[in-house]
Amino acid sequence: PRITYTVHADSRIARIDPRLYGSFVEHLGRAVYTGIYEPGHPEADEQGFRQDVLELVKDIGVTTVRYPGGNFVSGFNWRDGIGPKESRPVRLDYAWISKETNQFGIDEFANWSQKAGVTPMIAVNLGTGTPQEAGYFLEYCNHPSGTALSDLRAAHGRAAPYDFKLWCLGNEMDGPWQTGQLSAEDYMKKARETAKIMRWIDPEISLVACGSSHSAMPTFPEWDRIVLEGLYEHIDYISCHQYYENEGNPKDFLASFLNMDNFIETITSTINYAKAKTRSDREVMISFDEWNVWYLKTDPWDAVFKDKAKRFQPAPPLLEDHYSFLDALVIGGLLCTLVNHADRVKMASLAQLVNVIAPIFTQPGGDVIRQTIFWPFQMVATYGQGYALRSFSRCPTFETRYGDARLVQSALVYNEERQQIVLFALNCDFSQQVTLALDLQGFGVTRPRTQVLLQHQDLNARNTFDQPDNVSPRTLSLQAEPGNHHDVVLPPLSWNMLLID
Ligand code: AHR
Repeated sequence: PRITYTVHADSRIARIDPRLYGSFVEHLGRAVYTGIYEPGHPEADEQGFRQDVLELVKDIGVTTVRYPGGNFVSGFNWRDGIGPKESRPVRLDYAWISKETNQFGIDEFANWSQKAGVTPMIAVNLGTGTPQEAGYFLEYCNHPSGTALSDLRAAHGRAAPYDFKLWCLGNEMDGPWQTGQLSAEDYMKKARETAKIMRWIDPEISLVACGSSHSAMPTFPEWDRIVLEGLYEHIDYISCHQYYENEGNPKDFLASFLNMDNFIETITSTINYAKAKTRSDREVMISFDEWNVWYLKTDPWDAVFKDKAKRFQPAPPLLEDHYSFLDALVIGGLLCTLVNHADRVKMASLAQLVNVIAPIFTQPGGDVIRQTIFWPFQMVATYGQGYALRSFSRCPTFETRYGDARLVQSALVYNEERQQIVLFALNCDFSQQVTLALDLQGFGVTRPRTQVLLQHQDLNARNTFDQPDNVSPRTLSLQAEPGNHHDVVLPPLSWNMLLID
């Protein structure tokens, strides 16, 4: 097929918030221990942080990292993870039926974030935790000095406040799997009282309320409406979480972006409704702070519950999905959706970053590799900066469980500083190449220079420690004439990035 693809320089959706390219490190499996932190590893620095992992964290271009959970946070006492390491308590982690040694806590995370060059996004415990404990946690982190907790931080080696500005009011509190699950009303009240305390301590923080855990929750979107109406004046963001997996029909799986589109649009409408109902001038935005491919149904992590020998191990290998080429294509499609909603989605977190459903994968004591999904994320995080633009095309569609999906899922970004137009495009056609006939209006003379392509003949191809570059991008230099009309060829089933200047 040949598709005319028109875009005008003035058709701006919004400036992309760099925090759209965030990720997530939870105390879960080997995300922390033998992931980002492994004292004794040949690559560990003096603080025990793996430098080989840090390098890839910088390379992938993540901007924020959410911590310490996830489900873990809802049973976590932040005080267990501070002070001299030898006196920290070993605890049972109810969320993942693991043993938490607390050798890594908030002070270590602050140091690691600084080395990684990422902005921390911290979650408080609204499961077993109280509003006041959330306040104490914030006081420990952000209050300058002269109180028991701020002086305790100084005694632990950090005199200046951490000044963390992004805080999540709990995690997935609608889920029966959550320690201390709440009804929407009860969560709303608890989060409201927590938000009041937290803002009294530091009025400059931004707060994220828990939205539905996913769009198939029986309480969706009523949960979101109740939370938004009750918290509208207290929060800055509502969270969305959604994971996708191949349930046997690759076409449906490829169209995951359509489900994410609908989810964002429903939550946007719910926010607008709550804004009108509360007569507010405030703009609450979306934090899509958990999204990824996760083989939850086919590789049940909860086997640890049933197997006595596997219960309560420290840093057990959990949720270690080995991603395929097809998974990487799906991630590309989802990234386009996030960029295309840059007006309402201001933050997002690929869940997660290392080992646990992650683009970066380590061997304890050994190597680190980039999984297939590393690549689309890295391309969009690195080049998807500037304004998201709206494009117009009469694109053929294909039938999926989510409805009719565009054959080519795409996003277009204009970077003013680099004077560069960047097209991201996923060709969902299994057998045919698609030619995009670009009609670029209002940009002056343009010339496509480079096409970066992720393509593999085997949908199941994976990167392994023996073949770490099996699925990796290819860069083509283009010999295009300067002008406003350019034909771009997207091979069958491929993820593409086109740089035009
Ligand atoms: O990212 C894995 C888990 O998925 C998180 O702990 C939880 O928030 C979600 O259910």
